[in-house]
Amino acid sequence: SGQLNDLAVRAGLKYFGTALSESVINSDTRYAAILSDKSMFGQLVPENGMKWDATEPSRGQFNYASGDITANTAKKNGQGMRCHTMVWYSQLPSWVSSGSWTRDSLTSVIETHMNNVMGHYKGQCYAWDVINEAINDDGNSWRDNVFLRTFGTDYFALSFNLAKKADPDTKLYYNDYNLEYNQAKTDRAVELVKMVQAAGAPIDGVGFQGHLIVGSTPTRSQLATALQRFTALGLEVAYTELDIRHSSLPASSSALATQGNDFANVVGSCLDTAGCVGVTVWGFTDAHSWIPNTFPGQGDALIYDSNYNKKPAWTSISSVL
Ligand code: XIL
Repeated sequence: SGQLNDLAVRAGLKYFGTALSESVINSDTRYAAILSDKSMFGQLVPENGMKWDATEPSRGQFNYASGDITANTAKKNGQGMRCHTMVWYSQLPSWVSSGSWTRDSLTSVIETHMNNVMGHYKGQCYAWDVINEAINDDGNSWRDNVFLRTFGTDYFALSFNLAKKADPDTKLYYNDYNLEYNQAKTDRAVELVKMVQAAGAPIDGVGFQGHLIVGSTPTRSQLATALQRFTALGLEVAYTELDIRHSSLPASSSALATQGNDFANVVGSCLDTAGCVGVTVWGFTDAHSWIPNTFPGQGDALIYDSNYNKKPAWTSISSVL
């Protein structure tokens, strides 16, 4: 068919995927129908269900109810899955973030978390985001969190080494936003990758989240240049959380066309990069998106409108594939 995953695979990508909102899938039948169509989405990622606060809310108490929604949906529909996320400062329960740890005790906490959660989903995750968002927004320093305070930057290699032991066959990713602009934050991500590699630890990929803004999205060749800084280090890359928000609403028809061009440039940059494996959107309908909660007054960042009509962005992506 002419749906986006089929087109993406025909164009040489491994998948076109989406995040699954655990709070929406069982309450909105139109949402469920589009999400479950493998010709449209070849891969799913849980929007929240595999994060630390969902999977180990208190120490040693593991809960897979939310994460399994995505795993079971993907299995039922024959879709792949990327898994998100292990070591992250946010949605981290306070027993971890506010604990007083030694290197040994926090190592054991991370190891136990990975062995359980990655163990539970072993064999089902094409990739895992091992570390998420370890770089400050200015790109000049590492983000303060309990892991940095306990280990310094040693937690980068340590996390990848422990993840490899927990699931030897999944692709191990570093994942972050604003890497697309190829400025200081991208430089720091390159540095992080080189540090992990120099320590002899396994890293397979870098995820470009792709939380972008209509009209401020870099060009196709600028985006490809940023992606290729990582493929040059022997890694694969992917867009992992793509959405392109309007900074003011309602969007005019010309803003919707610009949004379409921006989406096409992002997907095109992946096609232009040997080693860019796929594109995942962070939701697909303007009816359900994290953007308005996090960026008040902004939104309509996805490829179907809130009535499930395909937007110009949908058509622009299909034309570039
Ligand atoms: C967001 C979810 O979409 C929201 O539902 C949740 O309340 C907060 O987290 N970067 C990430 C994602 O890596 O996990 C975030 O997801 C969006 C930013």
